Parts: sequence; structure tokens; C-alpha cells
Amino acid sequence: MTENALVLHVLGARPNFVKAAPVVSALTELGVRQGIVHTGQHYDALMSDVFFADLGLPEPIANLGVGSGTHARQTAALLTGLEDVMTEHAPSLVVVYGDVNSTLAAILVCAKLHVPTAHVEAGLRSFDREMPEEVNRVVTDALSDLLFATSPEALSHLAAEGVDPAKVHFVGNPMIDSLFSALPSLDPAPVQERLGVSGGYAVATLHRPANVDDPASARELVDAVLEVAEQVPVVVPLHPRGRQRLADAGLVDRPNLKIVDPLGYVDFLSLVRGAALVVTDSGGVQEETTMLGIPCLTIRPNTERPITVTHGTNRLVTPASLPAAASKALADGAATPSGELPPLWDGAAGPRIARVIAAWLRGDNLSPASRGKVS
Ligand code: UD1
Ligand code: UDP
Repeated sequence: MTENALVLHVLGARPNFVKAAPVVSALTELGVRQGIVHTGQHYDALMSDVFFADLGLPEPIANLGVGSGTHARQTAALLTGLEDVMTEHAPSLVVVYGDVNSTLAAILVCAKLHVPTAHVEAGLRSFDREMPEEVNRVVTDALSDLLFATSPEALSHLAAEGVDPAKVHFVGNPMIDSLFSALPSLDPAPVQERLGVSGGYAVATLHRPANVDDPASARELVDAVLEVAEQVPVVVPLHPRGRQRLADAGLVDRPNLKIVDPLGYVDFLSLVRGAALVVTDSGGVQEETTMLGIPCLTIRPNTERPITVTHGTNRLVTPASLPAAASKALADGAATPSGELPPLWDGAAGPRIARVIAAWLRGDNLSPASRGKVS
């Protein structure tokens, strides 16, 4: 590794922080010089600062403060802000995470400036281009120099899109590293007491545009959640997106329904750990519930994380099928069809990614034999 090599991580949204923390920590162990660029896509303390504190992430070297906007406006602000940062710092490698607009913008900027890039969580596909994230995934993978895959099916998706297999490394899932690191701190009791729930309860998170942006979809969704609340108390740590629309559709505090602000990482996972059921449209929550063995009902027509269905506790539902699915899940508990958890979701993805990055910075030829090597 050259002494002066600099790795920059571009982070903007809540799930980015969770995925990056193990990679940053493992690169620190290897003595790699690095910095975090926070785009400011998420900016509320409960969507951003709390994750830096809970995950032990270092202070960003820059915060672009791009904030919210339409896709075009937000992406335009990201592009100009990131171009300035990349020009100023001239990094050796830029690492991007997941599928948010900050990820896409960083990849575009770096491609034009000829800055090498690595994508953590490459190759996930919902095959639904109406999801903004799917567009971000396809473009990001097409332009990345190093691609880190979290599950085996990602490898075939990348191969089918013609990505050079020499760039691809199967490393496991750093979001699960963060979960494993947090496990000793996960205590349901304090957060349950604060939120006034105990015994059997469900946790719901809702933020996908397809669910919350359109008033008719929001109403259908809320009606389904209200039916679940007739079976079990439901706590909803509500993402700011669609908050008003969901409230207009009837998602308001009721005897068996508690709407709260988004929770910090440790509080949220503590609450989930004590739950009988999770209802969600999140990507990451599908993965975390699989590892925690909590039944998860995902209100989406598809998932880019099918391994959480085949090797986990996740089931896809529609608003119409949610109430019956909840009743069944509450009766059956968690059932993992294959009896096996996803391969390499073992808490060591961050170190694997860091070793590949360090080798790449040294200019090592990453031969097929070294790719995805797990030792
Ligand atoms: C983004 C990602 C999505 C990811 C989610 C994680 C894109 C296209 N979408 O969606 O893939 O699952 O983050 O949470 O990148 N807002 C606040 N405070 C904040 C941030 C957002 O109030 O700190 C509100 C604003 O009204 C904003 C809306 O949430 O307009 C949406 O924020 P945005 O970052 O555009 O997309 P998300 O829905 O958060
Ligand atoms: N999360 C959290 N507090 C909450 C809801 C979610 O800390 O109130 C965490 C969750 O544990 C996971 C991440 O946020 O690690 C997932 O983010 P989100 O659902 O916003 O995004 P997605 O994964 O859908 O892109």
C-alpha cells in the first residue's frame, strides 16, 4: 500500500452508516488512511447523528448538506458537492454503499474524474425499475471498479449484466457485522418501558415511495396495519418520508398502535429483538430479522434480498394479505425454510472487504484464487 493512499467513504442515508461502520473499523485496523464524506442526504439527528454515535463512526471530513429534494434536484446537489470534494482530496479509492441517491451520485462523479471506486452490496436486484434504488444499483455496479457482493445470487446478477468477474468479491454482509457488534448492547427492556410496550408486540417500519407516497396506497397500507393492531400491539418508529400522508390515512396513536419518531440504531434493534413480529418495507430490516430469528412480513411485491426468504424469516405480503399473514406468523413464530442462514453473514465481512481494499491499494494482482477468499 502506498503510504499516502487515501480511501474516502461516501455516506448519506441511514442504512449507509450501518453498512460502512465495519469497513471503516477494519481499514483502521490495517492502518489505511481514510475519511468519511457525509452528503447530508439524511440530516435529522435521529436519521444521522445517532448512527455515528451508536456505531462509533469517526466525524466526517466534510458534510455537503445536500438535504432533500426531487431526485433531479437532490442528485444535482450531490454531483456538484461531491465533485468539489473529490477534486480537493484526490482519493485513491472511493467506497460507496447500498443503493441510495448519494451512492449513485458518488459513482457518477468518480467515473467522470477517473477516481477508482468500490461498491459494497453490489449485485442486489429487485428487477423492478420503478424502484429508484434499482436504477441506482444497476448504474453503480456498471461503473464500479471493485464490487463487494453480500449474497450468492448477486454474483449471477452481475455476471448476467456482463460485469467482469475479476472485479467481484463475495465477502458477506457488513450490515450483519454491525448487528453482531451491537448484540451485547441490545436490551429490549429500557426501550419497551420508554415506549410503553411489553409482552407480545409488533414493530412496523414504512418508508418505500410505492407504499407511502400515493394517498390511495397509503390508505390501503394503513388499513392493513390497523387490522394487525387488532391482533397485537404495534409500535411504528416512523421514517420522516410520508409521515404526514400516513397520518392523513389514519396512522395515528390509538390504544393498540404507537407512532414514534425514528429510533437510534441500538434502540431500534433492541425493540426488534423483543418483538413477536416485524412488518416492514425496509431492505436492511429484512436482513436483520433473519439473523435475529424474528418473523418478518415485507410489504412489497418483490425483494432484492430473496435470501432472507429462502434462508431466513422473511415473507413478502401485500396489504390485503398482511392481516392473515400476521396472524399466522404470530401463531407459528419464526420459521427458516432451509434451516441455514445466508453464507458468510458471520460478522467478518468488514475485515474481508478491508483486506481486498488494502491489497488493491498495494497494487496486488487480485487473481481469481484470491477473490472472495474468506480467511
Ligand atoms: C432514502 C433512499 C432509500 C432508503 C432510505 C433509507 C434514495 C432514492 N432513497 O429514502 O433507498 O431506503 O433513504 O432510510 O436515496 N427527510 C427528513 N429528514 C431527514 C431525511 C429525510 O425529514 O433527515 C424527509 C424529507 O421530507 C425528504 C424525505 O424524507 O423529502 C425523503 O428523504 P430522501 O433522502 O429523499 O429519501 P428516503 O425516502 O429517506
Ligand atoms: N433503523 C433504525 N431505526 C429505525 C428504523 C431503522 O436504526 O427507526 C435501522 C435498521 O436497523 C437498519 C437500517 O436502519 O439497520 C435500515 O434503514 P432503512 O430501513 O431506513 O433503509 P433501507 O434498508 O430500506 O434502505
